[in-house]
Amino acid sequence: MITIEKTDSVIGARVHNLSLADIPDAGTVNDIEAALEIHGILIFPEQEITPQQMIDFSSTLGDLELTELEAARLENHEEIFVVGNVGKGLVSFSPDNDEQELEWHSDHIHHEVAARASLLYAKEVPDVGGDTLFACMYHAYDTLPEDEKRRCEKLEMIHCASGLDHYLEKQKLGGSNSLSGERQHKKVVRPLVRAHPLTGRPGLYFGNQVTIGIVGWDQNEAKAFIRDLTKHACQLGFQYRHKWTAKDAVLWDNRRVIHAGTPYDVKNTRRLMYRTTLRETAPIRSIG
Ligand code: OGA
Ligand code: MN
Repeated sequence: MITIEKTDSVIGARVHNLSLADIPDAGTVNDIEAALEIHGILIFPEQEITPQQMIDFSSTLGDLELTELEAARLENHEEIFVVGNVGKGLVSFSPDNDEQELEWHSDHIHHEVAARASLLYAKEVPDVGGDTLFACMYHAYDTLPEDEKRRCEKLEMIHCASGLDHYLEKQKLGGSNSLSGERQHKKVVRPLVRAHPLTGRPGLYFGNQVTIGIVGWDQNEAKAFIRDLTKHACQLGFQYRHKWTAKDAVLWDNRRVIHAGTPYDVKNTRRLMYRTTLRETAPIRSIG
């Protein structure tokens, strides 16, 4: 039986008595799914897993995305997306330093098929920096004033990789996250307030860089709105900060939380993370 230990934050729990190296039985899969629904983020400490074991474990939860981005693709394991400064190039979702804005996002919000959940496994982590922040978008929605909720419920957000590229270009270190060509400019429109398909609860669904506009809005007004919304939605009280220890694996629900990397010393330390990405299985619906 797995045991669950809540974090001190409004989201997140640590899961004990589970080895990701073993294929979980149906009952355990149910327990994991139920815990993910309650806590939004599950932390599995002290995992010794090979890439194939990570893929096999993740596959018991659903269909995995294949890594499109060449710089992030793990050789012979296309299901694994490599994050960090140790692989083929720098792949980072973090700003270069504390003065820069964070890049809050829900994985694959700008893809045709979004990500339901993601599993990130720490192979090597710096002693300082490189934490990952998560914020609960149920809380973000619930605490909006009623008139603001009604307003948000009507908004259709425009997501595009060009927003991410633009952000990375502003960073001194850049990175190789960008997708060249047509794919980069493909825009995806989704409601700002989505009903979680399992709980029915409304949550905000956006990113502060990848969301480049709002349907029918002036670009600058949309940018300003997204900036203000991020301040509210990602405030400390709605956050869980994960300070990584090597061999941690963290599973999160992209339907409910958005996340952001934090800076680390890219030149002098090593960070290597493997991610598997579970494809969205439900339509992304507004609550109306
Ligand atoms: C990701 C991601 C953040 C980090 O892998 O999807 O956003 O801290 N990572 O590496
Ligand atoms: Mn991400």
